[in-house]
Amino acid sequence: MCGSLGSTSANRLALDLAVDRLQAGGTASVDDVPLGHVPMFSPDRADDPPAAVAHMRSLVEAADGVLLAAPEYAGGLAGGMKNALDWLVGSSSIYQRPVVVLSAGTTGGVFAIEQLVRTLSWQGALTVGTLSVNAPRTKIEPGVGFVDAETVQRIEDWADALVAAMSMSPESLLERVASVVVPFGIDPARFGDLG
Ligand SMILES: Cc1cc2nc3c(=O)[nH]c(=O)nc-3n(C[C@H](O)[C@H](O)[C@H](O)COP(=O)(O)O)c2cc1C
Repeated sequence: MCGSLGSTSANRLALDLAVDRLQAGGTASVDDVPLGHVPMFSPDRADDPPAAVAHMRSLVEAADGVLLAAPEYAGGLAGGMKNALDWLVGSSSIYQRPVVVLSAGTTGGVFAIEQLVRTLSWQGALTVGTLSVNAPRTKIEPGVGFVDAETVQRIEDWADALVAAMSMSPESLLERVASVVVPFGIDPARFGDLG
């Protein structure tokens, strides 16, 4: 899920790199979850969602794990991503799914990451990795993608964290999630025992 529609989006390029990594590692299929046509959330439509929302929900529900990358705008999570996630609350589509979150942006998107971790945790998603990429334009070659070796490695590790989570025992998974969410002030007890 990408929270930027920019034609040269750094967050999209990070996702592209992560997807290459997943596919090289043998992940069966990776779907893009399009957010560009998701309308503003309406509680009146939560049980009878517009087509773009129904499509988004079905892709998330079919997924074994989800990668989310979004910019930070004005000190917060890009609104399009937050809006999309709000549509998932009523359907519990992302409940108990392992997820990894990333923000690429000028100052590294730390507030966007914090909000992503919190809103995903509130929906019962299991955040197993976060990644902040600051000054992404200095790490990207136009027309190529991320070329900075350290950043490429961090994005690949980020993707690997999602794959690793998929085969963890419930105990190890919960331990992993706790290590990610506790620094954000989130009580891992909210995830139960994942049994
Ligand atoms: C409206 C707007 C607000 C922004 N606010 C922030 C911000 O609060 N913090 C930050 O680090 N970068 C901010 N930026 C810069 C973005 O992080 C940067 O443009 C980033 O590359 C956007 O992601 P994208 O390339 O995936 O579209 C802002 C950019 C825009 C267009």
